[in-house]
Amino acid sequence: MDLGLKGKVAVVTGGSVGIGLAVAEGLAAEGVQLVLCARNEARVVEAARAIAAQYGVKAVGVAADVAQAGGVDALLERTAEAFDGADILINNAGTGSNETIQDAPDDKWQYYWDLHTMAAVRLSRGLVPGMKRRGGGVILNNASICAKQPLGYEPIYNVTKAALMMFSKCLSNEVIKDNIRVNCINPGLVLTPDWKKTARELTASTGGDWQGYLDDIARKNAPIGRFASPEELAKFMVFLCSPCASYCVGSTFYVDGGWLNGLA
Ligand SMILES: NC(=O)c1ccc[n+]([C@@H]2O[C@H](COP(=O)([O-])OP(=O)(O)OC[C@H]3O[C@@H](n4cnc5c(N)ncnc54)[C@H](OP(=O)(O)O)[C@@H]3O)[C@@H](O)[C@H]2O)c1
Repeated sequence: MDLGLKGKVAVVTGGSVGIGLAVAEGLAAEGVQLVLCARNEARVVEAARAIAAQYGVKAVGVAADVAQAGGVDALLERTAEAFDGADILINNAGTGSNETIQDAPDDKWQYYWDLHTMAAVRLSRGLVPGMKRRGGGVILNNASICAKQPLGYEPIYNVTKAALMMFSKCLSNEVIKDNIRVNCINPGLVLTPDWKKTARELTASTGGDWQGYLDDIARKNAPIGRFASPEELAKFMVFLCSPCASYCVGSTFYVDGGWLNGLA
């Protein structure tokens, strides 16, 4: 199915591995040109090179920390140099936390606020004018099921992802008049290399059954009884970026194997 995305330009934060990389590959398969961003320069440049070689699209890897205003500025600058703006923005960079509210210091709250929320605010502010010039665009924010259904060990993650979900709604109302569609994705369990690494570490001293450890997490949480693959989630995200999803505006979509315990 041709999704009508050929020739568009997408900026994907956290595009060097995991969900961001899968989305970048899914977009490239539709003929989308890419700016991938992550902090580790070697990894993001290699990801862009490999995608360009495999799919025959222009892809640029940019080393930048989107949790810092200066990092966002650098990413915007490189995007302007390479493509003179973008049609699609995927705010995906993010990571889990582990703390209690009683013990976590202010600077930890600030870091996750900057990474999960301000990066999306700053990048949207920077790219929306170009999207308007291009006649429209798509912004997709990758939050988490935890934005709605908190996990006990990571209150800072839960709170800052909930803020990203609300930001999506507010921005959507502001820019739909310019033909820019903003939506939010709340994934459940997605089996990235980082999940496997953590599982290997946690089971190393007890026999190393990391697959069993992950299966157990999936069975306990998601009614579907397994993790999603990054590609499974990416297919839905690529669809949302496309004109095939032209009436999807200001929504949050759960891709969670049934984990959300109630109605969205
Ligand atoms: N995997 C899941 O089960 C799951 C579930 C729900 C939601 N999510 C959300 O989905 C998003 C992607 O998750 P993932 O599991 O694919 O993560 P991942 O495999 O750990 O990849 C994270 C990506 O973000 C980049 N990144 C991290 N901090 C950054 C920063 N400050 N500036 C720029 N890039 C940064 C990383 O590269 P560098 O380290 O080189 O910067 C990497 O490319 C996250 O927002 C996460 O919260 C994931």
